[in-house]
Amino acid sequence: MSERIRHQAFRDKIMTAEEAAALVTPGASIGFSGFTGAGYPKEFPVALAKRLTEAKEKGEDFRIKIFTGASTAPELDGALADTGGVALRVPYQSDPHMRTAINNGTTDYVDTHLSHGPKYVNMGFFGEMDFAVVEATAITTEGEIVPSSSVGANRTYLDNAKKVIVEVNDWQTEDLYGLHDIYYGMDITSFRSPIPISQPGAIIGQPTLRVDPSKIIAVIKTSDPDRNSPFKPLDDDSRAIAAHMLDFLELEVRAGRMPKNLFPLQSGVGNVANAVLAGLKESKFEHMTSYTEVIQDGMIDLIDSGKIDVASATSFSLSPDAAHHMNEHARDYQGKIIMRPSDVSNHPEVIRRLFVIACNAMIEADIYGNVNSTHVMGTRMMNGIGGSGDFARNAGYSIFVSPSLAKNGDISAIVPMVSHHDHTEHDVMVLITEQGLADLRGLAPRQRAKLIINNCAHPDYRDELMDYYEQGLKVSKGIHTPHVLDRSLSFHKRFLETGSMKPQASAPQAAEEAASE
Ligand code: COA
Repeated sequence: MSERIRHQAFRDKIMTAEEAAALVTPGASIGFSGFTGAGYPKEFPVALAKRLTEAKEKGEDFRIKIFTGASTAPELDGALADTGGVALRVPYQSDPHMRTAINNGTTDYVDTHLSHGPKYVNMGFFGEMDFAVVEATAITTEGEIVPSSSVGANRTYLDNAKKVIVEVNDWQTEDLYGLHDIYYGMDITSFRSPIPISQPGAIIGQPTLRVDPSKIIAVIKTSDPDRNSPFKPLDDDSRAIAAHMLDFLELEVRAGRMPKNLFPLQSGVGNVANAVLAGLKESKFEHMTSYTEVIQDGMIDLIDSGKIDVASATSFSLSPDAAHHMNEHARDYQGKIIMRPSDVSNHPEVIRRLFVIACNAMIEADIYGNVNSTHVMGTRMMNGIGGSGDFARNAGYSIFVSPSLAKNGDISAIVPMVSHHDHTEHDVMVLITEQGLADLRGLAPRQRAKLIINNCAHPDYRDELMDYYEQGLKVSKGIHTPHVLDRSLSFHKRFLETGSMKPQASAPQAAEEAASE
């Protein structure tokens, strides 16, 4: 292990996680590595959580502000959230404990676009960055950091932090070296030059992260695995969604709007997006590329099967089995996988230039094509916007997917009006559920409404949605976008009151149903 730490200034600072955690001061802002359950520090956050708990037991006011690449894992988000000592969380999380702390008001959450987070840190909107705590596979002889299974916002946190703690993890294979491309051309103090990426495989930076060795205050040796959840097995709904997506892509190629090997693909987080990738493996498309945020199991399969030539992202997001495979075979992916800082992987300029096909999952969409990716019933934070806005707003194709029903049919993913607004009708080009696909491009709101209700809504909710639309035509002052304002959130209200959005049976219907039981 010590041979992975090849610079004296780092060797001089080797200590335990507990000793490193003792160096943190109350109120500190800490920028952690980590993007999904990949590349986050494993032992320092647990030791820090212990320290916060002890402080709380003594009645001390010891709270911290935490920044990451994106979501992490129980050892970081979960452990720290449980202490009640996280005052601020930025920019994306998906941990059940952190979600609770956010939703019960213990923790303030600034849910920024991932392309904006590092910029806000650089510009000082969150105040000073006191510590950066990053995971590495090794320290080079020049004193640079070899990132592990994610890059995220590491470069920004290392540049801005006053003090740096590194966890060198020998569970992570050293063969990851060369998969990272760290771009240092984003000077915020002057006019910016174009980011020189004109195809997903472009290498524009260096394989390591720079750090001023005088800022290193602790180096911790670890051997702990990344922790991502396995994906849900493919079900009929996700297979149907993938099939609609493939039909659509084939149509676009036939119409001459897309090359035969497609534009670069972006695939969002979660089970549904992973299922769409699985569908592509069965497609006839060859030599595809990807310019995306995370590399999931489905993407590795596409690379292994020779369907995808090269994938650019900022992080792995692999199931335990796929992470094990990557650790054994990372060398085989040189030139096929490139991991960049998240403000490059998600940069609007590059996404637009490459005409990316963006496919992201959603919580709900309304009949006009507005999308909610973040809030359940309008107020409860689920995960965050992540990179979905970066891609949806700037992609060549902006596609949102979801099963038409959630929670055993008690929730319709197609609603009269979204209860929270992340992606506007102006950015959403295609909606797909297992029921079908609505291509919204070039359509006016009233045309979109009929298409979305007929093609995407579940039959259990279709009549009520159409009735809503038709009533909107009668009562709206202007019928450009018909709504019945006092009924617009009726689906959500009914769920909150009865536990189901399902239309209530009318009195005669209810009597009929009761009689037949
Ligand atoms: N109302 C309430 N709950 C809903 C819902 C709705 N309309 N739609 C989905 N859910 C729940 C599901 O029931 C499930 O709950 P469970 O974990 O208790 O089983 C959970 O949300 C996840 O849904 P699932 O259908 O498995 O989809 P997913 O794993 O693909 O996640 C998002 C969907 C929207 C939550 C997820 O994609 C996300 O956080 N997106 C925002 C960030 C993003 O898009 N990043 C990509 C940029 S690269």
